[in-house]
Amino acid sequence: MKSEKIEIFDTTLRDGEQVPGCKLNTPQKLSIAEKLDELGVDVIEAGFPISSPGDFHSVSEISKLVKNAKVCGLTRANPKDIDAAAEALRFAKRPRIHTGIGTSDSHIRFKFNSNREDIIERAAQAVKYARTFVEDVEFYAEDAGRTDNDYLARVCEAAIKAGATVLNIPDTTGYCLPEEYGEKIKYLKENVSGIHRAILSCHCHNDLGMATANSISGVINGARQIECTINGLGERAGNTALEEVVMILKQHPGLQLYTGVKSRMLNPVSLLVSELMGMPVQPNKAIVGANAFAHSSGIHQDGVIKNRETYEIIDPAEVGVNASTIVLTARSGRSALAYRFRHIGFEVTKNELDFLYEEFLQVADRKKEVDNDDLSAIIEKVTRKIG
Ligand code: KIV
Ligand code: ZN
Repeated sequence: MKSEKIEIFDTTLRDGEQVPGCKLNTPQKLSIAEKLDELGVDVIEAGFPISSPGDFHSVSEISKLVKNAKVCGLTRANPKDIDAAAEALRFAKRPRIHTGIGTSDSHIRFKFNSNREDIIERAAQAVKYARTFVEDVEFYAEDAGRTDNDYLARVCEAAIKAGATVLNIPDTTGYCLPEEYGEKIKYLKENVSGIHRAILSCHCHNDLGMATANSISGVINGARQIECTINGLGERAGNTALEEVVMILKQHPGLQLYTGVKSRMLNPVSLLVSELMGMPVQPNKAIVGANAFAHSSGIHQDGVIKNRETYEIIDPAEVGVNASTIVLTARSGRSALAYRFRHIGFEVTKNELDFLYEEFLQVADRKKEVDNDDLSAIIEKVTRKIG
């Protein structure tokens, strides 16, 4: 079986930037867009041009800057939004308009006070209109996660007929189970006529902590694009984390799916986004959290010191982290202590280590973490004691 590419659609600058407190100015967006392009993402969703003059300007500037990736602008299903996106994307080498409408019963009833047939008509009109400006039009069926599959298939069919090149199936509320989301994608692959003319895209939110699992289930079942953000930023509990899906596909070659992302840039790009958005990354965040390659319990440390693979499934260098760390706490053992002493230039005998370890535990019980200064002080104290 031949390995197939999964397109990475980064929406850090659109869905990610919607997060309270994460707003960026144009120069900040440009530095992130430049890095995303270097990282190797396939699509950069640069913003929602109609939403504000500032966002329009950012999308326009990003369009001029980006060399390789497609640049995308979000719209609702109306001509004014589409006009603004087309204008903002005027300078993009590879522009994409991302237009769409809510398709679940609650969106149709409460947001649009409308009916299913009218929504299909509006979806088709929006795609058709967007195609008068660009060749690449992505259609989103907002709240597809809670839209019944038969109706969703009809909406997708109309969007393809109108000229959509990508069909985005968002689990907008993060409600789907991975199996259910995968089945939805499979159903669309098998039941939408003309589906060979478009690719299916996963856009999953993390309200129940399943965004990454749902996206992976989506691509296993035939989707060929994942929409995601650096550090999993996004509305409410966030979107699928880019670094997670990229590394899952890389660490599981048996899936026969790959991305074009340069994984060694993941950590530096995560740090850049966190710093510019003023949004710290939780320490236990998969792949890019400060503790993702830190070992602190004695049993784990002993294993990792003997062979990294005992407790690490990824070589930290693969994601741009210099090395794994052995953190000294009251749960650490002698082997970790000796290892850290060696790192600061002290080779200790087994006998000396016994004395040092007793003293170490006294310090470790008082402090959350024992650092190199503490280790030097321990050596000094024990040397004085035992002469
Ligand atoms: O979550 C969602 O449904 C979205 C769409 C606007 C694509 O972000
Ligand atoms: Zn979203």
